[in-house]
Amino acid sequence: MSGRVALVTGAGGGIGRAVARQFALAGAKVVVHYRTAAAGAGAVVRAIEDDGGEAFAVGADLGREDECRRLVQAAAERFGRLDALVNNAGLQPTQDLAGMELADWRAVVDTNLSSVFSCTQAAAAVMRGQGGGSVTHIASIEGTRPARRHAHYASSKAAIIMHARAAALEYGEAGIRVNSVSPGLIDRDGLAEDWPEGVERWQRAAPLGRLGRATDVANACVFLASPLAAWISGHDLVVDGGVSARPTW
Ligand SMILES: NC(=O)c1ccc[n+]([C@@H]2O[C@H](COP(=O)([O-])OP(=O)(O)OC[C@H]3O[C@@H](n4cnc5c(N)ncnc54)[C@H](OP(=O)(O)O)[C@@H]3O)[C@@H](O)[C@H]2O)c1
Repeated sequence: MSGRVALVTGAGGGIGRAVARQFALAGAKVVVHYRTAAAGAGAVVRAIEDDGGEAFAVGADLGREDECRRLVQAAAERFGRLDALVNNAGLQPTQDLAGMELADWRAVVDTNLSSVFSCTQAAAAVMRGQGGGSVTHIASIEGTRPARRHAHYASSKAAIIMHARAAALEYGEAGIRVNSVSPGLIDRDGLAEDWPEGVERWQRAAPLGRLGRATDVANACVFLASPLAAWISGHDLVVDGGVSARPTW
């Protein structure tokens, strides 16, 4: 990825932080987006610089279309081009359907789906002018198999899997590839304490016997953005330790 520029949304912590770090380790210059996690994003930039890479942080509320456009513009201007966008930012609240208000639904759809539409459109305009690029959405295995109390989330993730395919169809002639990555349950600090029964169920269900790591997702993103994936577009890459391979009956 050397000489290439990657923009990772929601990279002040969690999976996005690992995606930003792995792109930098693969040689890319990285634009680290955050909404509230300014300190986290600053730490990611410093870690990349300490490793000899180049990065800078930009704040934006991706629930707003103008902010999506401003973010992509800032990224392209800082390093003079944009080769890879990873749409990672997302909300994951839980609420049952009966108690869900339209505002709850809209908050998730605006952040998880509409921001993907807007950021991709803005990035594709830049990529078209430079002869191509790659966009990867972070979806979820819930985009194909729902979980309880997550109807808004699962619907938004199903929609971005389809958005990736539709965008692959329309942007392909400009040399722009669009894919999604669907992670299973990814480990984070405090997960085992917060949700012990979920972690235990996952470990029992996973053929590979463990939770995912943020780097498992990040490596899939780097692969899809790299020349190794030059003929891959409109694909949903499931990164779930084999859980989706289990029989459902
Ligand atoms: N963790 C999992 O097991 C798992 C599994 C499958 C899929 N995923 C997906 O992977 C992605 C990252 O998840 P994560 O677990 O790393 O979650 P996380 O730590 O909560 O990160 C979510 C990120 O989204 C950003 N964000 C939220 N609303 C935003 C908005 N309106 N504008 C801009 N940024 C916004 C947050 O930014 P700030 O913190 O700066 O506010 C944060 O960096 C999400 O799309 C999630 O759905 C996660």
